Amino acid sequence: IDIKSLRGETGGVITLDPGYKNTGSCESSITFLDGEKGILRYRGYSIEELAEKASFLEVVYLLIFGELPNKETLDKFHEDIKSHSVVDDDLKKILDAFPKSAHPMGVLSSLTSALTAFYPSSVDVASEEAMYNSIVTILGKFPVIVAWTMRKKQGLPLEYGDDKLGYVENILKMMFKSPNGDYIQNPILVNALDKLLILHADHEQNCSTSTVRITGSSHAGLFVSLASGISALWGPLHGGANQAVLEMLEAIKADGGDTKKYMAKAKDKNDPFRLMGFGHRVYKNFDPRALIIKQAAEEVLADLGIEDPILDIAKGLAKEALEDSYFVDRKLYPNVDFYSGIIYRAMGIPVEMFTVMFALGRLPGWIAQWKEMRTRKEPIGRPRQLYIGETYRPFTTIDKR
Ligand code: ACO
Repeated sequence: IDIKSLRGETGGVITLDPGYKNTGSCESSITFLDGEKGILRYRGYSIEELAEKASFLEVVYLLIFGELPNKETLDKFHEDIKSHSVVDDDLKKILDAFPKSAHPMGVLSSLTSALTAFYPSSVDVASEEAMYNSIVTILGKFPVIVAWTMRKKQGLPLEYGDDKLGYVENILKMMFKSPNGDYIQNPILVNALDKLLILHADHEQNCSTSTVRITGSSHAGLFVSLASGISALWGPLHGGANQAVLEMLEAIKADGGDTKKYMAKAKDKNDPFRLMGFGHRVYKNFDPRALIIKQAAEEVLADLGIEDPILDIAKGLAKEALEDSYFVDRKLYPNVDFYSGIIYRAMGIPVEMFTVMFALGRLPGWIAQWKEMRTRKEPIGRPRQLYIGETYRPFTTIDKR
């Protein structure tokens, strides 16, 4: 390699770190993560305490504004969000144009991006007030779009929320209200969803969050930055893993429940199969969110009186992995997505919507990270490369090739 090609514009050497395994992209005061010790904290508060004691909306406020809100602040925040929860009717026309077979993540990304066309002032973040307006606008409209995405897929009429309900209560109502108007709120499901959303709310510089920050670093608007994060989340190595996990567990069940066969496939380097929901770039001991979700899954199924053989298969895989040197040596443990699908399924959420639910939870993290990036006036994100292609070649005209 020509050493000159390793020099950056400041004269320093360019580091090559595919996948950014050891490269920090920013300073941040939002989320602390210690992968060796399995510690996750939002703004200094432990994920365990937040999942047990806080509501999702409190966590949304905490992540975005840095402090836990008092009752008055939280009420005002909720009112501001509610005042932005109507979505322009013309957006429904875009939704209608999608085929019913469209994956909900593609629809969600497109509609979130399209919001900019309907609310162009959201691009203006010159003042604190303008930034706040963009934030409450998307927090108001995103759950509506999420619910519409599911209802469109199911051929159900679209719903709006109910002003009297809480943020998470409203999400469930918009998703599950029957066409004849019936809807009974189940507090077990509300609590479970609240907890799941909290556990997904932020995870520092993961793939989708880095995408949001890098898109926003060009000063593109908040909504399109979020849309690019949604697209990044879609992939099965990231948020799409929760859908892939359930499909994998179903396949194992349909195949007679032989977990050992699938463990062997995952270890076979000639087989592209991976044990979905296992492994994490940063957690090399355990994923604290997986522990909380596993317990929540057991509680929700017990409270609802559901016996799901899928949970037994999942627990079987997790136990076998703990005793298998392939997984132990590579520090592969169940991650946040391993058990979440079991809860979503118990709630009646279709498998294709699982990653959309992840996006709903991750929304405040993306917003907080985007806001931090803009407030700190970070420079445009622009990684360098090591060029390994041809050196200069004289051009030949088409008749001579
Ligand atoms: N099943 C089998 N083997 C695995 C798995 C798995 N799930 N995950 C990693 N490995 C193996 C790799 O083959 C590799 O083995 P090798 O050293 O013999 O070549 C080693 O473990 C290291 O794996 P990498 O892919 O290099 O680790 P990386 O940090 O790049 O990837 C990732 C992390 C993407 C999460 C990976 O573990 C994976 O694909 N897991 C399955 C998908 C998944 O659950 N994604 C969700 C992640 S959490 C989230 O985004 C919310």
